[in-house]
Amino acid sequence: MKHLIAIAMCGILCAVILLMSCSAPPDGKTVFIESGCARCHEINGAGGSQAPRLQGLQSKWTPELLEKFLIDPPAYAKGNTRLQAYIKKYPTPMPKLEITPARRKILVQYLLRRYP
Ligand code: HEC
Repeated sequence: MKHLIAIAMCGILCAVILLMSCSAPPDGKTVFIESGCARCHEINGAGGSQAPRLQGLQSKWTPELLEKFLIDPPAYAKGNTRLQAYIKKYPTPMPKLEITPARRKILVQYLLRRYP
């Protein structure tokens, strides 16, 4: 009987741990890689060189504008001369990527903190 209780307790503990790890939000770097950003943008010296190096983002973007850009980069870039200059320089303009709103928020916070 004691064994059964111990096994049941282990089961419950495992379930709780699993649930916690599933519901914990992913960190910014993971979202960046999983969203395909590193295909073009360099990350810690690794990854693509198909895009401008991310730097000085806090002086270029507010969280609101960066979020708007990430929702539809081609549409946003249309009216932005700085981004247009980049587009001339790199092989493909930044595409629209499928990211959930929650993950986009994580990404915005990460980018502004990681590349101030
Ligand atoms: C196909 C290559 C490609 C992919 C994939 C890509 N980008 Fe870009 N990114 C670019 C290019 C090219 C630009 C230059 C501006 C433009 O194209 O609109 C850019 C511009 C940016 C800028 C603005 C840089 C500045 O100096 O203001 C940010 C921020 C950015 N990308 C973040 C991301 C994030 C986050 C992802 C993933 C969700 C991503 N990019 C995926 C190519 C890419």
